[in-house]
Amino acid sequence: MPVRVLVTGGAGFIGSHFAERLLAVGDDAIVLDKLTYAGKEGNVPKGAVFVRGDIAVKETVDAVPEFDAIVNFAAETHVDRSILGPHDFARTDVLGALVLAEVARERGVRLVQVSTDEVYGDVVEPAREDATLRPSSPYSASKAGGDLQVLAAVRTYGIDACITRGSNTYGPRQFPEKLIPLFVTNALDGEPLPLYGDGRQVRDWLHVEDHCAAIELVLRTGESGELYNVGTGDQRENVDVAQSILELTEADPALLRRVDDRPGHDRRYSLDASKIRTLGWEPKRSFDEGLEDTVQWYRENRSWWEPLKSGEYRAYYERQYAERLR
Ligand code: NAD
Ligand code: TYD
Repeated sequence: MPVRVLVTGGAGFIGSHFAERLLAVGDDAIVLDKLTYAGKEGNVPKGAVFVRGDIAVKETVDAVPEFDAIVNFAAETHVDRSILGPHDFARTDVLGALVLAEVARERGVRLVQVSTDEVYGDVVEPAREDATLRPSSPYSASKAGGDLQVLAAVRTYGIDACITRGSNTYGPRQFPEKLIPLFVTNALDGEPLPLYGDGRQVRDWLHVEDHCAAIELVLRTGESGELYNVGTGDQRENVDVAQSILELTEADPALLRRVDDRPGHDRRYSLDASKIRTLGWEPKRSFDEGLEDTVQWYRENRSWWEPLKSGEYRAYYERQYAERLR
């Protein structure tokens, strides 16, 4: 029997791929999305029902007709923006998760809360799911707050919920503020690539399709109350990612610019993802292959990203980079 899933944040990057995936196997997707600067109605796949609304407003979620499960992608997601203004992050990422936990309880449906490896803060050894939460940024602190609301609702009210904690994700349709799409689109436009600090920070890269496969597996087979790390172990220093992008775009290497570091910048994320592997998940794409495809997608889809780089984005870009690049 097809499952009808409420995909919150499904007009954004990962959520839109996830909705596509559900539809491909014959399930139904209802996308609920506020359409912030990061959401685009055109990202919602054909065949999904689209409702514009805010997850932090309970009446809005209550008004959505029947569904069998919720997968929550809706969030404010960019660390640099959280440093410039943290309030929307607390509202959506904490209060929004709380509202969805209440709705899951009232409707008796499963909730999968999509979270991040950033809740562990920077680590030396790969973090397991029981590692201490040490979020460094207003973004990761808000995501940790959302996770804790969901876990408390499992314990107190017995809701059916799981949490996934994925690592840095990349692929088509990622908003051009995050490292990979920002550097790829800037390189294609001959604009500088602003590398923070010494560029030796390490991230564990995960292709969006591999991330969505893991979330789908947790939705269908995860145990309630459990957390699942999702990471490939494919770790790269930012400077190496930047070099690969310069090569793949055939851009001038002089575009790479060392700029002032991000405050509170986490040095290294690394996950122990053995638990999700025991459920049967394994990544299908290497970083090199995934990055090449992603660069190709941005080359071929200028009409998707060029309009995003005006208006609000320009104002943000000036605030974030003008001084750094001067
Ligand atoms: P994104 O910024 O591309 O999309 C977020 C979506 O949520 C947008 O469509 C936006 O309009 C919507 N949204 C924001 N506030 C909302 C609200 N109050 N109500 C309803 N919709 C709202 O983000 P993404 O990269 O696709 O991330 C999706 C989820 O995955 C987030 O929860 C994020 O924390 C998590 N995550 C992301 C990564 C990554 O590297 N991108 C890694 C691990 C986990
Ligand atoms: P980002 O994509 O913002 O993801 P996160 O901070 O959630 O890991 O950044 C990835 C890495 O790239 C991080 O170490 C910060 C660095 N970075 C830059 O060096 N320059 C930039 O302009 C951006 C956006 C990120």
